[in-house]
Amino acid sequence: METITRSKIVDVLKSTAFGSTVNVKGWVRTRRGSKQVNFIALNDGSTINNIQIVVDIEKLGEEFLKPITTGACISVNGTLVESQGKGQSAEIQAKEIEIYGSADPATYPLQKKGHSLEFLREIAHLRPRTNTFGAVFRIRHHMAIAIHQFFHERGFFYFHTPIITGSDCEGAGQMFQVTTMNLYDLKKNEEGSIDYKEDFFGKQASLTVSGQLEGELAAMALGAIYTFGPTFRAENSNTPRHLAEFWMIEPEVAFNEIEENMQLAEDFIKYCIQWALDNCKEDIEFLNNMFDKELIERLEFVLKQNFIRLTYTEGIRILEDAVAKGRQFEFPIFWGADLASEHERYLVEEHFKCPVILTDYPKEIKSFYMKQNDDGKTVRAMDVLFPKIGEIIGGSQREEDYDKLARWAQEMGVPTKDIWWYLDTRRFGTAPHSGFGLGFERLLLFVTGMANIRDVIPFPRTPNNAEF
Ligand code: 4AD
Ligand code: MG
Repeated sequence: METITRSKIVDVLKSTAFGSTVNVKGWVRTRRGSKQVNFIALNDGSTINNIQIVVDIEKLGEEFLKPITTGACISVNGTLVESQGKGQSAEIQAKEIEIYGSADPATYPLQKKGHSLEFLREIAHLRPRTNTFGAVFRIRHHMAIAIHQFFHERGFFYFHTPIITGSDCEGAGQMFQVTTMNLYDLKKNEEGSIDYKEDFFGKQASLTVSGQLEGELAAMALGAIYTFGPTFRAENSNTPRHLAEFWMIEPEVAFNEIEENMQLAEDFIKYCIQWALDNCKEDIEFLNNMFDKELIERLEFVLKQNFIRLTYTEGIRILEDAVAKGRQFEFPIFWGADLASEHERYLVEEHFKCPVILTDYPKEIKSFYMKQNDDGKTVRAMDVLFPKIGEIIGGSQREEDYDKLARWAQEMGVPTKDIWWYLDTRRFGTAPHSGFGLGFERLLLFVTGMANIRDVIPFPRTPNNAEF
């Protein structure tokens, strides 16, 4: 076959160089047609749209074309022509085809149209080849770029925090342990506990639940930083919104108080949503039509809203009022209770009909590092609550006072000997500062309109599931 520089289908579809010879390579979505002429819909992942390859059967031979079935990979040299069909502007009149790899129709799992999302999760190695997951993963890429762009434009530095850690930042004890010890032959010391001095790091180590603590160290030097990396939580919650391995973006800013932290969070989310609408139009339109007819409307709606800001205490009052008027919730509501997703979504979807930033939570239900308010009961926490999602961001102003921080950590049972370095920032040039964490997959749930978090990450890790 003649060697011609490969073009991406996204570019060929936009080209008007009719009459020129082009090469495209990709995977066959369908082949249909008559005894004389066949039409191959070819996709190379560069766009959700396929290019149509028109094949003169007599020229290439019926036998030759046989392995060109759904899922096969081919390279095509042909003439770019103006499309007769509606929709597409360009198609290719095939001159030569090379078959890179066939896909036996008897065993290729993506034969029939309209597979369920549940079935596609079982073939996560092939699901990127569907329109839906091609769209989702292209959007995922664009959101990552948007995030870096947002912070870079504002002078934040991308800071890499460790994946393996010796401290439990959120204090929730949901960590995956990292060890090279032989689990079949675990040596215990006299007290009956494991001697981690024998382990790789000479101490107990785990996968991080958050890069925040190290992020704070960086903010106390570089001023404004963000992390963007994988985080791990062994919480046994099999919900459409929880993963055991998820990606988190955590900005941390010296001298910001909670009001500035809230504004940063609101600006950040809106920037990402606007970016998606500007850069992922075709993919979002596809998802809107396939899964969620209100998706685009909801994205545009959120951009127009000023997020409602209220305290946890005010939120509880609204929820108690709702209960008094007969609204039923699965979990009880009272001051001091941790809000469940149903409560968060009531405030956002039914009461305010707008994203909400809830602040000043009871200190007992939040992490040890949050700045304590003068009332002695609440901390300067902030959660951003979103329609369809519930909590999308969690953050706070940080406690910068050494004594208060150390005392509260102790009372909450946080092993302070593991975080002496964190406490040191409060001893040496401490400063007010704030930050938050955005769950990347929760953002993607919102932007794609997908209903299950397993469908916005390529290879989800959840309880009893680490395939691929
Ligand atoms: O509220 P979280 O636990 O906050 C922190 O980890 C802080 N260290 C953040 C900070 O202040 N720097 O988690 C932050 C966000 C949540 O709002 C949610 O969007 C997401 O991370 N998240 C999860 N996403 C998917 N699966 C899980 N299991 C998640 N747990 C939290
Ligand atoms: Mg949280």
